[in-house]
Amino acid sequence: MLLPCLCAGSFLAAQAQEASQTTQVHHPWDDRALSPDERADLVLKEMTLDEKILLVHGQGWGVLRPPDPVAPGSNFAAGYVEGIERLGIPGVNEADSAVGARMAAYQARYATLLPSTLGAAASWDIEGAQLYGDVIGRELRAWGSNMSIGGGVDLMREPRNGRNFEYAGEDPLLAGTMTGNLMKGLQAEHIMGDIKHYAFNDQETGRNAVSANIDHKAARESDLLAFQIAIDIAKPSGVMCGYNRFEETYDCENDYLLNQVLKKDFGFKGFVLSDWGATHSTVKAALAGLDQEEPEDIFFGAPLKKAVEDGQVPMSRLNDMDHRILRSMFAAGVVDYPVMPRNVVDPFKGRDDAQHIAEESIVLLKNKDSILPLDPARVHSIAIIGSHADKGILSGGGSAQVDAPGGNVTDPHPGGANWGETVWFPSSPLRYIREHAPTAKVEYNSGDDASSAAALAKSSDVAIVFVNQPMYEGHDAKTLTLPDNQDALVSAVAAANPHTIVIAETGGPVAMPWSDEVAGIFEAWFPGIGGGEAIANLLFGTVNPSAKLPASFAKRDADLPHPEIAGINLKEEDHYVETNVGGKRTRQNQPQLPFFDVNYTEGAKVGYKWFESQHIEPLFWFGYGLSYTTYSYSGLHVSPDGGEVTLTVKNTGERAGTEIAEVYAKLPKAAGEDYKRLIAFDRVPLAPGEEKTVTLKVDPKLLSVFNTQKNNFELVPGTYTILAGPSANETPLKAGFTYSQ
Ligand code: BGC
Repeated sequence: MLLPCLCAGSFLAAQAQEASQTTQVHHPWDDRALSPDERADLVLKEMTLDEKILLVHGQGWGVLRPPDPVAPGSNFAAGYVEGIERLGIPGVNEADSAVGARMAAYQARYATLLPSTLGAAASWDIEGAQLYGDVIGRELRAWGSNMSIGGGVDLMREPRNGRNFEYAGEDPLLAGTMTGNLMKGLQAEHIMGDIKHYAFNDQETGRNAVSANIDHKAARESDLLAFQIAIDIAKPSGVMCGYNRFEETYDCENDYLLNQVLKKDFGFKGFVLSDWGATHSTVKAALAGLDQEEPEDIFFGAPLKKAVEDGQVPMSRLNDMDHRILRSMFAAGVVDYPVMPRNVVDPFKGRDDAQHIAEESIVLLKNKDSILPLDPARVHSIAIIGSHADKGILSGGGSAQVDAPGGNVTDPHPGGANWGETVWFPSSPLRYIREHAPTAKVEYNSGDDASSAAALAKSSDVAIVFVNQPMYEGHDAKTLTLPDNQDALVSAVAAANPHTIVIAETGGPVAMPWSDEVAGIFEAWFPGIGGGEAIANLLFGTVNPSAKLPASFAKRDADLPHPEIAGINLKEEDHYVETNVGGKRTRQNQPQLPFFDVNYTEGAKVGYKWFESQHIEPLFWFGYGLSYTTYSYSGLHVSPDGGEVTLTVKNTGERAGTEIAEVYAKLPKAAGEDYKRLIAFDRVPLAPGEEKTVTLKVDPKLLSVFNTQKNNFELVPGTYTILAGPSANETPLKAGFTYSQ
């Protein structure tokens, strides 16, 4: 056995080495007792001008745009900001991770595909949202990325928006709460978080050209309120400004959005990073509040240095940018708890978490004559039709795309998913349905030919039709109608078999003209890698559905505030931008639509607020969702100041379940509002026959209108009506309180 040498010489040498290491790594800002702001200021004092510039821009498009070289230090994330080694400041790998870590295939790594965030919002589960963030956080950590650039919270003004699956629905409270808690969960892994795309990036059509216009009162009570709530909860490191323009000025150089609202009014202490290629100026953007250009250095590299030297951008502003970036790194813990590249993720845990979230996300929309849950003892044959349900489940595309383990099940190819590719993940509903009904004959028909699908349905006890709506970044659905004539497929199957159940895998709301023809409907969104099993568990009642819609489903496009998407018929024009490919600056033509406007004259009336105020009945209201048990509501009380609401929910059925209780307010007449607003909600788990009384806090902002003169939210004198119940359209309980100034 070798014994350590305790001789004086080697002991002293070891001591000297330790001392030198301590001197090497010890900086005054390593002191964790100091606040993130103090630590950032200490670093800032030591930084040269070049180092200050280095932190405020990315190192190129890298793997996103070959042949741009991947910067040393980058781990194939979407963006890389070089660190300052001599000061112990690590580089930041900014990774796309809206519904799971993107780019895993580039490193031959596994990444968990979670249900779409819109789906997860249907759970109304705050702990579930934190778990969602935790899955992403721990996988990014293991991969060596220290910042997530997920966190989409743009309000669903446009139900046909191609990125709705990355957002969290139509209500500011629900969307802000779910996204904020997702980021909170992620940041608990010492990963920097992000909220995006700030703001009004509500459609993909002409996203670089459109100007969203809306009055400031309505803006603060709708889209901006969703951001405010998410930012208050998560205190994220970053906020990504969007591609679009707001009031004719690009988001990323918009003083009102960035300086006035985000930084001053919301008190956001982190940094604003541009969406990829969304920086359009140096001085204007820097003075308007942009802190970091991504992913290049076109405006915030040499041109910013010069602007600082010339005094066009004060040094104090550059210091502020760097301070915000550094304080966010300290606050998130990426300096104190460095990421562990090459650690192994636990794919089984990720998959189980994804399945749990899916089971809470899939909404039961129709259950005629209690056809569901299916009883395997009574169902002898099942027809499974359409949407590759024999092989897998659908995912959303674009920068939110996660690489499927083993590749796209319908079109396997090496490497990652191609941009805009429709990717089906290996979670086969057919397989899990067979497991639940081992003695039944379960057959699959592709649905390509409606009459052969109908023939199979006719000879089966039950027909389950899977319909799909592939959605991806950069595109919107032109209409709410399902693509590829799937409505006709459903009608043909339903005509052949009255026991037809539809499972919809969609990016967001779709029209369901066949809803009266079928017996059952589940909205499964993009359900994630545990989706196949979650769908089967819900169909057979192993799990009792509890989810409720985070967005209303209109009957038809004509019922929406904008029956047609703004700009949808415009033609692209030449549009030249400067890029820096491998250190060589070039002008490249990236055709885009000519500038155009979308005028949000509906104001804050988004989703259910629109339908209620216009007296239009949607197919399904916001907040709606069925269960295999029943609930009753009673005993609504509201505190004299409206700050606290109490109500009782009872499980009146025979199965255990979880009811999402929803509380709404109608403001006093003086507010001039012809709709109600969601002000609180809670998930209440209940055994059969059990009842629970819950007390919910109400944020005064949700009971207020925004006074643009005073630049503040204020309560409205008069009588408030408080309503509670199972959905925006069913509020059996009523109470009230009066506010006098
Ligand atoms: C998207 C962002 C994304 C970025 C980096 C952009 O096209 O809008 O959401 O984070 O690309 O991939």
